[in-house]
Amino acid sequence: MIPIDLAGKVALVTGVGDNQSFAWFISKALQVAGARLVFASHPRMVNIVGNLLDSNKPDDVAARKLPSGNGELKPEMVVACDVSFDSMDDVDEKTKGDRRWNKHGDFTIKGMIDQVGPKFGGIDILIHSVAFSMEIKNKAVDTSRKGYLQALSISAYSLTALARACLPLMENRPDGASVVGLSYIGGDRVVPHYGGGMSTAKAALQIDAKQLASNLGPKGIRVNIISAGPYASRAASAIGDIDQMISYAAQRSPLPRGITPEEVANATVFLCSPLASAITGHVLYVDCGYNVMGV
Ligand SMILES: NC(=O)c1ccc[n+]([C@@H]2O[C@H](COP(=O)([O-])OP(=O)(O)OC[C@H]3O[C@@H](n4cnc5c(N)ncnc54)[C@H](O)[C@@H]3O)[C@@H](O)[C@H]2O)c1
Repeated sequence: MIPIDLAGKVALVTGVGDNQSFAWFISKALQVAGARLVFASHPRMVNIVGNLLDSNKPDDVAARKLPSGNGELKPEMVVACDVSFDSMDDVDEKTKGDRRWNKHGDFTIKGMIDQVGPKFGGIDILIHSVAFSMEIKNKAVDTSRKGYLQALSISAYSLTALARACLPLMENRPDGASVVGLSYIGGDRVVPHYGGGMSTAKAALQIDAKQLASNLGPKGIRVNIISAGPYASRAASAIGDIDQMISYAAQRSPLPRGITPEEVANATVFLCSPLASAITGHVLYVDCGYNVMGV
């Protein structure tokens, strides 16, 4: 057996919104490998995530159970972070005045790093599992400029913004550091339901990851993307008929079934591990092979 040992590595995980998020499953797998977890969640999701971590309801307890069978998901810190904003200078007055945001103090990327840095001293793993489009149900041709730019800002530029903000904590780590982002085949090909700027955001995310891999490689930081098959998370359920997308992909994939979030989590842990030490700038499809099909 070749073990994956991430003992003591610090993993900053964005995109945990509930216990169905890909980031939740990725976190569990990282913890099993030994990583220490920090969640940077959207300000509106911080309480929900906190409740899911503390709840005694049997379903919530079961959702926290680690895949190893021993122990449960336990991040050391849950911090608010709205990845739309690099610092408080970027925040509009409406958001500044909104209690759901301002009760967290500085809820920007800078504010989050200012809390994480002093406590952990370094970051070995950064998971980017964030996406949003307010017009996801709009066809590309009907997408507004505002909606398009917001989708790109939150779903793509945030990878660059987070990588830059984390750089002082991630550069020249003893075993190198790893960034993994989540994409979808809608960034490569036309998926009719994937509008509102989201397909553009995924295409941007993928080339940005390659640019960042080139920029940050000399500092010992690898940057990779997992392009996951469709899965019925909260975000995906906003797309439209996610069940139909899952069953369509399952019927046409070389492995004729849907993916599981555990499979995405395992591939992420692999990319963060020394087993992937020469892999950077790569888009790894975790989609039961759907991406190779022509029809
Ligand atoms: N579910 C799928 O079918 C699928 C397939 C391929 C890729 N993905 C990608 O996986 C990633 C995670 O999505 P998921 O399916 O787990 O859904 P999810 O809804 O659980 O996760 C999306 C997360 O993005 C967060 N978010 C949105 N706007 C934000 C902001 N401004 N600041 C901070 N956080 C913000 C949400 O709070 C949520 O936690 C996304 O990048 C998504 O595009 C999903």
